Amino acid sequence: MRTDYKNFFLVEHPLVKRDITVLRDKHTDCETFRASVSRISIIIGAKMCEDLNLAEKGVETPLEETIGYVLANEVVIVPVLRAGLGMVNGFLEIIPDAKVGHIGLERDEETLKPVEYYYKTPANLDTHKVFLVDPMLATGGSASAAISFLKKRGAENISFACLVAAPEGIKKLNEDHPDVKIFGAALDRELNEKGYILPGLGDAGDRTFGTL
Ligand code: PRP
Ligand code: URA
Repeated sequence: MRTDYKNFFLVEHPLVKRDITVLRDKHTDCETFRASVSRISIIIGAKMCEDLNLAEKGVETPLEETIGYVLANEVVIVPVLRAGLGMVNGFLEIIPDAKVGHIGLERDEETLKPVEYYYKTPANLDTHKVFLVDPMLATGGSASAAISFLKKRGAENISFACLVAAPEGIKKLNEDHPDVKIFGAALDRELNEKGYILPGLGDAGDRTFGTL
């Protein structure tokens, strides 16, 4: 399968492959589903953090002074509601001092276009590294709209994390936002006529929150 899409980074890890399989399984209950989403998010988050800038900071060990490091920029994690919420705890495990913003977007099932219903992030987004998180990148409409909202509010340094990506969504993000890196745990085949990813894992929001 083609994995050389511009700006798309497939996070390949045995534990990710194991947990993606748990998510795909239609028999997986929502408790197990949430746990797998969290574990994958930790591994994707760690991969995305490889890009973070550091500032030097002196530190005193019990023996002597030496040079240590702190993150140069504050981090804000922004889940796309609802399903993105499931990825937040995994990211907070590894960046516990990150802020958390929220973007409420719902895909209109007729038009497949995203409709905004909530927005709250820190004011000075230009000084932050923004990790936008949403498990599904299908048509790319929701992620593209969320990135536009963030940029309108000043964000300049955004990376996007998903669990399952469709080629259609990657292409749309690359066209609309060529500056944004996309990290995914799986690259799937295509969308069906209702905009669902194949083979996919179904409706991520419903499976996370048990609203099937
Ligand atoms: C899902 C998913 C994305 C969107 C992806 O959300 O979490 O936000 O669909 O589809 P797209 O790439 O075609 O825009 P949904 O609209 O089902 O809302 P929910 O999280 O509240 O269930
Ligand atoms: N949103 C989902 O939750 N799943 C898909 O397959 C596509 C969009």
